Amino acid sequence: MTAFNFFQLADTQFGMSASLSNRSDAQIADMASRGMKVRRVAPFEGFGPETAAFEEAIAEANRLKPQFVIVCGDMVNDPDSSDERAEVLRVAGQLDPSIPIHWVAGNHDIGADTIVPTPASVEAYRDVWGDDYFSFQHGGTSFIVLDTSVMDHPEQVPGELESQMRFLEAELRAARKRDTSQIIVFTHYPFFLDNPDEGDGYFTVAKERRLPVIELFRKYGVSAVFAGHWHRNHYAEDNGMLMVSTGPVGFPLGDDASGYRIVEVHDGGLSHEYHELLNGQPPAGNEEDKE
Ligand SMILES: [Fe+2]
Repeated sequence: MTAFNFFQLADTQFGMSASLSNRSDAQIADMASRGMKVRRVAPFEGFGPETAAFEEAIAEANRLKPQFVIVCGDMVNDPDSSDERAEVLRVAGQLDPSIPIHWVAGNHDIGADTIVPTPASVEAYRDVWGDDYFSFQHGGTSFIVLDTSVMDHPEQVPGELESQMRFLEAELRAARKRDTSQIIVFTHYPFFLDNPDEGDGYFTVAKERRLPVIELFRKYGVSAVFAGHWHRNHYAEDNGMLMVSTGPVGFPLGDDASGYRIVEVHDGGLSHEYHELLNGQPPAGNEEDKE
């Protein structure tokens, strides 16, 4: 096979920076206690930082011509904001039309309250962004996109989880029948941070529904899962399968600045590298202390 590459982005999350501006010390401390390092930001409105960072990532894609760009969820901060959505789509419209762009459902895109999907919020998502789970192929590699919000919280959308699990198994089986060299999965939530047997937490798919998916990944030999949601880079592994959480194009909550990942797929494997954005936002640790 001929080696090729793609751009993986996550958490453009237009509107998040403004929503976190002017936070009190108590609010910042509360987020820190939940594992999110929030940099102090002077109050502002709109989404200037997100626009600058996303435009840079799109310009880099136009320069380097990957086979596709995928945005692993939380395109917007407020699922009901038509302004945020319009700005994401306006910037995405700057991508060279010969490069496909794929969207992955994040909790801020498909959750009615940014967490739990409802029939109306799922329908609204599909109207704007397209299917919330689907597959595509490129260069002998099979790619599968999943909706981890429905996996994490299926309670208000009866039948959706079951349909998605049937789709997943059928796609994995079909990928192997096609003599696929590799299977790569895209999600918003990582399945786990350290190992599949860890307990539940805000950043991962609930264990009860995580383990059946991991069993399928092991059975069909998935090479890697690329996710977002954590707003920082993180790397784990299960039986040779990489579990990669990629830092945000938007607001960082860990030790990495805003950025995106270039993944190269080649014979028998893949390699990947995170690229910080010059117009991205720094992590909390880089902010000068204003106490
Ligand atoms: Fe998220």
